[in-house]
Amino acid sequence: MMSLWRESAFFIAMVFIAHALCAAQAQLFNQNFFVGWAPQNTLLLNGGRTINLKLDNNSGSGFQSKNSYLHGYWSMSIKLPVGYSAGVVVAYYLSSLRTATTTNWDEVDFEFLGNVTGQPWILQTNIFTSGQGGREERIFLWFDPTKAYHTYSVLWNDHQIVWYVDSKPIRVYRNTPVTSATYPKLKAMTLYSSIWNGDDWATRGGLDKINWAFAPFTASYSNFNIDACPWNQPSSAPACVSNSRFFWWDQPSKWTLSASERSDYTNIRKRYIVYDYCKDFARYPTPLPYCSVRPW
Ligand SMILES: *[C@@H]1O[C@H](CO)[C@@H](O)[C@H](O)[C@H]1NC(C)=O
Ligand SMILES: *[C@@H]1O[C@H](CO)[C@@H](O)[C@H](O)[C@H]1NC(C)=O
Repeated sequence: MMSLWRESAFFIAMVFIAHALCAAQAQLFNQNFFVGWAPQNTLLLNGGRTINLKLDNNSGSGFQSKNSYLHGYWSMSIKLPVGYSAGVVVAYYLSSLRTATTTNWDEVDFEFLGNVTGQPWILQTNIFTSGQGGREERIFLWFDPTKAYHTYSVLWNDHQIVWYVDSKPIRVYRNTPVTSATYPKLKAMTLYSSIWNGDDWATRGGLDKINWAFAPFTASYSNFNIDACPWNQPSSAPACVSNSRFFWWDQPSKWTLSASERSDYTNIRKRYIVYDYCKDFARYPTPLPYCSVRPW
Protein backbone atom coordinates (compact mmCIF):
# COMPACT_ATOMS: atom_id res chain seq x y z
CA MET A 1 0.00 0.00 0.00
CA MET A 2 2.62 2.44 1.20
CA SER A 3 4.95 1.60 -1.62
CA LEU A 4 2.16 1.95 -4.17
CA TRP A 5 1.36 5.38 -2.80
CA ARG A 6 4.99 6.32 -2.80
CA GLU A 7 5.37 5.15 -6.36
CA SER A 8 2.48 7.20 -7.63
CA ALA A 9 3.66 10.25 -5.68
CA PHE A 10 7.06 9.76 -7.27
CA PHE A 11 5.45 9.41 -10.69
CA ILE A 12 3.43 12.59 -10.25
CA ALA A 13 6.50 14.46 -9.00
CA MET A 14 8.47 13.28 -12.02
CA VAL A 15 5.71 14.33 -14.40
CA PHE A 16 5.75 17.73 -12.73
CA ILE A 17 9.53 18.03 -13.03
CA ALA A 18 9.39 16.83 -16.61
CA HIS A 19 6.88 19.54 -17.43
CA ALA A 20 8.95 22.21 -15.72
CA LEU A 21 12.10 21.06 -17.51
CA CYS A 22 10.46 20.87 -20.87
CA ALA A 23 8.08 23.78 -20.83
CA ALA A 24 10.34 25.30 -23.42
CA GLN A 25 7.41 26.27 -25.60
CA ALA A 26 8.78 29.74 -26.10
CA GLN A 27 7.53 31.53 -29.12
CA LEU A 28 10.46 33.93 -29.17
CA PHE A 29 13.17 32.95 -31.63
CA ASN A 30 16.04 33.98 -29.35
CA GLN A 31 14.96 31.81 -26.47
CA ASN A 32 15.79 28.47 -28.08
CA PHE A 33 17.49 29.35 -31.37
CA PHE A 34 20.35 31.35 -32.81
CA VAL A 35 21.47 32.30 -36.30
CA GLY A 36 24.37 30.04 -37.21
CA TRP A 37 24.88 31.06 -40.82
CA ALA A 38 24.97 34.49 -42.49
CA PRO A 39 23.29 36.82 -39.96
CA GLN A 40 23.33 39.56 -42.62
CA ASN A 41 20.75 37.52 -44.56
CA THR A 42 18.36 37.12 -41.63
CA LEU A 43 15.81 39.48 -40.14
CA LEU A 44 14.01 39.22 -36.79
CA LEU A 45 10.51 40.68 -36.93
CA ASN A 46 7.37 40.95 -34.90
CA GLY A 47 9.18 41.50 -31.58
CA GLY A 48 11.36 38.43 -32.13
CA ARG A 49 8.46 36.08 -32.88
CA THR A 50 9.28 35.79 -36.58
CA ILE A 51 12.54 35.34 -38.45
CA ASN A 52 13.10 35.66 -42.17
CA LEU A 53 15.91 33.77 -43.88
CA LYS A 54 17.15 35.08 -47.20
CA LEU A 55 18.99 33.53 -50.10
CA ASP A 56 20.64 35.97 -52.49
CA ASN A 57 23.42 35.67 -55.00
CA ASN A 58 25.98 36.01 -52.18
CA SER A 59 24.73 33.56 -49.60
CA GLY A 60 21.97 31.52 -48.08
CA SER A 61 21.36 31.64 -44.32
CA GLY A 62 20.33 29.43 -41.44
CA PHE A 63 19.56 28.97 -37.76
CA GLN A 64 19.70 26.19 -35.21
CA SER A 65 18.50 25.33 -31.74
CA LYS A 66 20.79 26.16 -28.81
CA ASN A 67 20.20 22.75 -27.24
CA SER A 68 20.15 19.24 -28.55
CA TYR A 69 17.41 16.92 -27.45
CA LEU A 70 16.70 13.25 -27.06
CA HIS A 71 13.05 12.52 -27.92
CA GLY A 72 10.25 15.04 -27.99
CA TYR A 73 8.22 17.25 -30.26
CA TRP A 74 9.43 20.09 -32.50
CA SER A 75 7.11 22.36 -34.40
CA MET A 76 7.33 25.55 -36.42
CA SER A 77 5.23 27.57 -38.85
CA ILE A 78 6.93 28.28 -42.16
CA LYS A 79 6.00 30.37 -45.20
CA LEU A 80 8.06 29.59 -48.29
CA PRO A 81 9.40 32.04 -50.90
CA VAL A 82 6.65 33.23 -53.21
CA GLY A 83 6.87 33.30 -57.03
CA TYR A 84 9.79 31.91 -59.02
CA SER A 85 11.80 29.67 -56.71
CA ALA A 86 13.27 26.92 -58.91
CA GLY A 87 16.50 25.59 -57.44
CA VAL A 88 15.76 26.95 -53.97
CA VAL A 89 15.93 24.46 -51.09
CA VAL A 90 14.53 25.20 -47.64
CA ALA A 91 15.81 22.54 -45.27
CA TYR A 92 14.26 21.97 -41.84
CA TYR A 93 15.73 19.04 -39.97
CA LEU A 94 16.99 17.39 -36.84
CA SER A 95 20.55 16.12 -36.85
CA SER A 96 22.88 14.58 -34.32
CA LEU A 97 26.33 16.07 -33.90
CA ARG A 98 28.18 16.00 -37.18
CA THR A 99 31.72 17.05 -37.99
CA ALA A 100 33.67 16.66 -41.23
CA THR A 101 34.65 13.14 -40.15
CA THR A 102 31.38 11.89 -38.62
CA THR A 103 30.10 8.83 -40.46
CA ASN A 104 27.38 7.60 -38.10
CA TRP A 105 25.06 10.57 -37.62
CA ASP A 106 21.27 10.41 -37.42
CA GLU A 107 19.06 12.91 -39.21
CA VAL A 108 15.32 13.50 -39.75
CA ASP A 109 14.60 15.78 -42.70
CA PHE A 110 12.00 18.02 -44.21
CA GLU A 111 13.29 19.59 -47.44
CA PHE A 112 11.16 21.99 -49.43
CA LEU A 113 12.05 22.13 -53.11
CA GLY A 114 11.10 25.28 -55.03
CA ASN A 115 9.72 25.50 -58.54
CA VAL A 116 9.21 27.81 -61.49
CA THR A 117 6.36 30.32 -61.17
CA GLY A 118 2.97 28.66 -60.86
CA GLN A 119 4.31 25.13 -60.38
CA PRO A 120 4.07 23.37 -57.04
CA TRP A 121 6.74 23.10 -54.36
CA ILE A 122 7.62 19.57 -53.34
CA LEU A 123 8.11 18.46 -49.77
CA GLN A 124 10.80 15.82 -49.55
CA THR A 125 11.39 13.85 -46.34
CA ASN A 126 14.29 11.59 -45.52
CA ILE A 127 15.91 9.83 -42.60
CA PHE A 128 19.56 9.02 -41.93
CA THR A 129 20.55 6.47 -39.35
CA SER A 130 24.23 5.91 -38.65
CA GLY A 131 24.96 7.98 -41.75
CA GLN A 132 22.74 5.88 -44.04
CA GLY A 133 20.13 7.93 -45.92
CA GLY A 134 18.61 7.14 -49.29
CA ARG A 135 15.08 6.87 -47.90
CA GLU A 136 13.47 9.82 -49.65
CA GLU A 137 9.77 10.37 -50.01
CA ARG A 138 8.19 13.30 -51.84
CA ILE A 139 4.73 14.78 -51.66
CA PHE A 140 2.87 17.69 -53.19
CA LEU A 141 1.23 19.79 -50.49
CA TRP A 142 -2.58 20.21 -50.46
CA PHE A 143 -2.19 24.00 -50.13
CA ASP A 144 0.07 26.71 -51.50
CA PRO A 145 2.92 26.87 -48.93
CA THR A 146 3.94 30.35 -50.13
CA LYS A 147 0.60 32.02 -49.35
CA ALA A 148 0.44 31.51 -45.58
CA TYR A 149 2.29 29.96 -42.64
CA HIS A 150 1.78 26.22 -42.21
CA THR A 151 3.00 24.06 -39.38
CA TYR A 152 5.66 21.41 -39.83
CA SER A 153 6.44 19.15 -36.88
CA VAL A 154 8.34 16.06 -35.82
CA LEU A 155 7.53 13.67 -33.00
CA TRP A 156 10.35 11.37 -31.84
CA ASN A 157 10.08 8.76 -29.13
CA ASP A 158 11.43 5.26 -28.74
CA HIS A 159 8.60 3.80 -30.83
CA GLN A 160 8.16 6.06 -33.82
CA ILE A 161 9.21 9.19 -35.65
CA VAL A 162 6.32 11.07 -37.23
CA TRP A 163 6.53 13.92 -39.73
CA TYR A 164 3.46 16.19 -39.50
CA VAL A 165 2.13 18.90 -41.80
CA ASP A 166 -0.55 21.04 -40.11
CA SER A 167 -0.87 18.28 -37.49
CA LYS A 168 -1.53 15.59 -40.10
CA PRO A 169 1.00 12.77 -40.30
CA ILE A 170 2.59 12.45 -43.71
CA ARG A 171 5.24 9.90 -42.81
CA VAL A 172 6.10 7.45 -40.04
CA TYR A 173 9.33 5.62 -39.25
CA ARG A 174 8.89 2.96 -36.62
CA ASN A 175 11.17 1.16 -34.23
CA THR A 176 10.28 -2.48 -34.84
CA PRO A 177 12.29 -5.70 -34.53
CA VAL A 178 12.98 -5.47 -38.28
CA THR A 179 14.22 -1.90 -38.04
CA SER A 180 15.64 -1.66 -34.57
CA ALA A 181 19.19 -1.56 -35.95
CA THR A 182 18.30 1.43 -38.13
CA TYR A 183 16.27 3.40 -35.62
CA PRO A 184 17.72 6.66 -34.22
CA LYS A 185 18.37 5.83 -30.60
CA LEU A 186 20.80 7.47 -28.25
CA LYS A 187 22.17 10.34 -30.30
CA ALA A 188 20.66 13.65 -29.25
CA MET A 189 19.59 15.88 -32.12
CA THR A 190 19.70 19.60 -32.83
CA LEU A 191 17.08 21.38 -34.95
CA TYR A 192 18.37 23.28 -37.99
CA SER A 193 16.81 25.26 -40.76
CA SER A 194 18.40 26.94 -43.75
CA ILE A 195 17.76 28.25 -47.24
CA TRP A 196 20.29 27.53 -49.97
CA ASN A 197 20.98 27.06 -53.65
CA GLY A 198 20.30 23.45 -54.61
CA ASP A 199 19.75 24.03 -58.28
CA ASP A 200 22.02 21.19 -59.35
CA TRP A 201 19.29 18.73 -58.19
CA ALA A 202 16.25 20.30 -56.53
CA THR A 203 13.84 21.19 -59.31
CA ARG A 204 13.03 18.59 -61.97
CA GLY A 205 16.29 16.91 -61.15
CA GLY A 206 18.31 20.11 -61.74
CA LEU A 207 16.73 21.15 -65.06
CA ASP A 208 15.22 24.36 -63.66
CA LYS A 209 17.87 26.67 -62.25
CA ILE A 210 17.83 29.56 -59.82
CA ASN A 211 17.07 32.84 -61.55
CA TRP A 212 18.78 35.59 -59.55
CA ALA A 213 16.52 38.17 -61.15
CA PHE A 214 13.91 36.92 -58.65
CA ALA A 215 16.23 37.10 -55.63
CA PRO A 216 16.21 37.50 -52.71
CA PHE A 217 14.29 34.33 -51.90
CA THR A 218 12.78 34.63 -48.42
CA ALA A 219 11.47 31.95 -46.09
CA SER A 220 9.66 33.14 -42.97
CA TYR A 221 9.29 31.29 -39.64
CA SER A 222 7.17 31.69 -36.54
CA ASN A 223 5.55 29.71 -33.70
CA PHE A 224 8.83 28.23 -32.49
CA ASN A 225 7.86 25.30 -30.36
CA ILE A 226 10.24 22.80 -28.81
CA ASP A 227 8.80 20.43 -26.25
CA ALA A 228 11.59 17.93 -25.94
CA CYS A 229 14.05 16.45 -23.49
CA PRO A 230 17.20 18.62 -23.43
CA TRP A 231 20.46 16.74 -23.66
CA ASN A 232 23.28 18.01 -21.52
CA GLN A 233 25.65 15.12 -21.25
CA PRO A 234 25.43 11.35 -21.65
CA SER A 235 24.19 11.03 -18.09
CA SER A 236 20.98 12.78 -19.09
CA ALA A 237 20.00 9.78 -21.19
CA PRO A 238 18.17 7.89 -18.45
CA ALA A 239 15.93 10.89 -17.82
CA CYS A 240 15.08 11.19 -21.51
CA VAL A 241 14.53 7.62 -22.62
CA SER A 242 11.03 6.54 -23.21
CA ASN A 243 10.51 3.71 -20.78
CA SER A 244 10.46 6.39 -18.09
CA ARG A 245 7.16 7.56 -19.65
CA PHE A 246 7.34 10.86 -17.82
CA PHE A 247 6.81 12.89 -20.96
CA TRP A 248 3.63 13.27 -22.97
CA TRP A 249 5.41 12.23 -26.17
CA ASP A 250 6.37 8.93 -24.53
CA GLN A 251 2.91 7.88 -23.47
CA PRO A 252 1.47 4.72 -25.05
CA SER A 253 -1.03 6.85 -26.98
CA LYS A 254 1.98 8.23 -28.92
CA TRP A 255 3.52 4.86 -29.71
CA THR A 256 1.46 4.55 -32.89
CA LEU A 257 -0.81 6.87 -34.86
CA SER A 258 -4.29 7.48 -33.48
CA ALA A 259 -7.37 6.43 -35.47
CA SER A 260 -7.87 9.90 -36.94
CA GLU A 261 -4.16 10.19 -37.73
CA ARG A 262 -4.30 6.87 -39.57
CA SER A 263 -7.13 8.09 -41.71
CA ASP A 264 -5.33 11.39 -42.50
CA TYR A 265 -2.12 9.49 -43.29
CA THR A 266 -3.91 7.11 -45.63
CA ASN A 267 -5.75 9.88 -47.49
CA ILE A 268 -2.70 12.10 -47.86
CA ARG A 269 -0.52 9.32 -49.16
CA LYS A 270 -3.17 8.15 -51.58
CA ARG A 271 -3.47 11.63 -53.10
CA TYR A 272 -0.22 13.48 -52.75
CA ILE A 273 2.78 11.19 -52.76
CA VAL A 274 4.94 11.64 -55.86
CA TYR A 275 7.99 9.60 -54.92
CA ASP A 276 8.57 6.73 -52.53
CA TYR A 277 11.98 5.08 -52.27
CA CYS A 278 10.20 1.84 -51.43
CA LYS A 279 8.62 1.84 -54.89
CA ASP A 280 11.72 2.88 -56.81
CA PHE A 281 12.71 -0.53 -58.13
CA ALA A 282 15.25 0.88 -60.55
CA ARG A 283 17.14 2.27 -57.56
CA TYR A 284 16.44 -0.55 -55.12
CA PRO A 285 15.65 -3.78 -57.05
CA THR A 286 15.30 -5.35 -53.61
CA PRO A 287 13.48 -2.84 -51.42
CA LEU A 288 15.26 -1.87 -48.20
CA PRO A 289 14.19 -3.91 -45.15
CA TYR A 290 12.16 -1.06 -43.71
CA CYS A 291 9.82 -1.14 -46.71
CA SER A 292 8.05 -4.20 -45.34
CA VAL A 293 7.13 -2.45 -42.09
CA ARG A 294 3.51 -1.34 -41.73
CA PRO A 295 2.91 2.23 -40.60
CA TRP A 296 1.09 1.00 -37.43
C1 LIG B 1 24.18 40.13 -56.99
O1 LIG B 1 23.00 40.91 -57.03
C2 LIG B 1 23.24 42.29 -56.91
C3 LIG B 1 21.89 42.97 -56.78
O2 LIG B 1 20.99 42.51 -57.74
C4 LIG B 1 24.04 42.77 -58.10
O3 LIG B 1 24.31 44.14 -57.99
C5 LIG B 1 25.36 42.00 -58.13
O4 LIG B 1 26.08 42.32 -59.28
C6 LIG B 1 25.10 40.50 -58.09
N1 LIG B 1 26.40 39.82 -57.91
C7 LIG B 1 26.71 38.71 -58.55
C8 LIG B 1 28.03 38.10 -58.16
O5 LIG B 1 26.00 38.20 -59.40
C1 LIG C 1 7.88 21.45 -60.39
O1 LIG C 1 6.85 21.45 -61.33
C2 LIG C 1 6.95 20.39 -62.27
C3 LIG C 1 5.86 20.58 -63.30
O2 LIG C 1 4.59 20.62 -62.68
C4 LIG C 1 6.81 19.07 -61.53
O3 LIG C 1 6.99 18.00 -62.44
C5 LIG C 1 7.88 18.97 -60.44
O4 LIG C 1 7.67 17.80 -59.70
C6 LIG C 1 7.75 20.19 -59.54
N1 LIG C 1 8.66 20.22 -58.41
C7 LIG C 1 9.97 20.00 -58.42
C8 LIG C 1 10.68 20.22 -57.14
O5 LIG C 1 10.61 19.62 -59.39
